[in-house]
Amino acid sequence: MRTNPVITIDGPAGAGKSTAARLLAERLGYTLVPTGAMYRAVALSVMRAGVPQREGPELRAHLEPLSIVVAAGRVRLDGEDVTDAIRSREVARVTSDITMLASVRAKVTPLQRELAAAGGVVLEGRDTGTVVCPDAEVKFYLTASLEARARRRQAELAAAGTPVALDAITAELSARDTQDQTRELAPLRKPPGAIELDTSDLTADQVVERMLAAIGTDRGAEPRQATAPRPNRLYAFLRVLAVALMRLLFRVEARGRENVPARGPVLLVANHSSFLDPPLVGGAANRQLTFLAKAELFQIPLFGALIRRLNARPVRREGADPGALRTAMRVLEEGGALLIFPEGTRGDEGAVRPAKAGAGMLAVLSGVTVVPVYVSGSGRAWPRGRRLPRPAKVTVTFGTPLRFEAERGADRKRQYEIASREMMKAIERIRDGTTADSAGKRWSESYAVRSK
Ligand code: DC
Repeated sequence: MRTNPVITIDGPAGAGKSTAARLLAERLGYTLVPTGAMYRAVALSVMRAGVPQREGPELRAHLEPLSIVVAAGRVRLDGEDVTDAIRSREVARVTSDITMLASVRAKVTPLQRELAAAGGVVLEGRDTGTVVCPDAEVKFYLTASLEARARRRQAELAAAGTPVALDAITAELSARDTQDQTRELAPLRKPPGAIELDTSDLTADQVVERMLAAIGTDRGAEPRQATAPRPNRLYAFLRVLAVALMRLLFRVEARGRENVPARGPVLLVANHSSFLDPPLVGGAANRQLTFLAKAELFQIPLFGALIRRLNARPVRREGADPGALRTAMRVLEEGGALLIFPEGTRGDEGAVRPAKAGAGMLAVLSGVTVVPVYVSGSGRAWPRGRRLPRPAKVTVTFGTPLRFEAERGADRKRQYEIASREMMKAIERIRDGTTADSAGKRWSESYAVRSK
């Protein structure tokens, strides 16, 4: 069973699906799967290769090796980022034709199911609630009057520098509706049990608010069951196994465990030099943790599903990820223990690198207790670039709890930077043995974060 729901959004062109899906995914910290974009990528490759746009051995041979990946809001065709290239009207026209072909749907549908398998996704398209994921927990069907949809398309095209007469767009949309609804394969229709929303007179934000209300999350973060810090039995079971294995391989030692409050919200911030760090800190801590991990990991079949069940939540690597910040805040608001690696990517053993601004922002905005954690030895045991781990001594030390209290009226960005810097300094102090942390004593420091 999935821990996190799958949400599908279907409807005709211009009903506002893609914007609503993107905003909803951001609000929930879920992965967005724009299924139309995957079909567009196929159309682009078919156009470029000059392959006949009809069923036949040539088309099938072309489709077979194609790699189409959607991750972090980008679409890649055989590794090339085609996110912008697939937006042309010409690609849209060819897409509309090839999506009627069985071999095209047979190629793309399984890829979409794989992306949805782990849950925590918003799928958007024409057949996501009927064919791709008929078992989705929440299904939406967005509609709007032909006139409203035509006006939206017109505004979009005008903004992109291609003004087109309203009549022409209305005729185009109407033809696409007929084609989408009457085609033999995966025709557009309202999935049984779907929640229907007429968006003709709603803004994108209003649509998303209604969706969140329908899902049962008023605050725009994950639905309650997704992040609530209830004991997770799979986690508890695998933790015992992982701890036994890691003790054997790495003679793991945990210090200062009493520095982690047994209950209530806490943010653990650790240095990062190995894949092993999340299970090492999770094994050493005296309570269950929630982890943030890069979104790409959730795309890996089986592994993605497993880490999601082990309390991992996706973050996008490039650019700001407001959805991840909300997810993180929600975990803390619900009294959870969240582990983050402020440095972002893995670095060398023993090196403590500057934190990303997001870490300080989370500490200041949440105002929760922050526990610095230093992991030593994991970068020797399984450094970047090695295929397999090797035996090495590993120590996980939980340091003195910190608090970052925001000062009213002060420059916020600066406060976040200071908090980011201070948490890394605290990790360095554990590494260098310059506090009583390594002896496991406990006292509390408080930082009033000043902007001067
Ligand atoms: O949503 P969009 O405009 O990016 O979709 C492009 C085309 O793909 C459009 O003609 C409908 C089609 N499509 C489909 O057949 N099945 C889907 N699940 C998504 C899109």
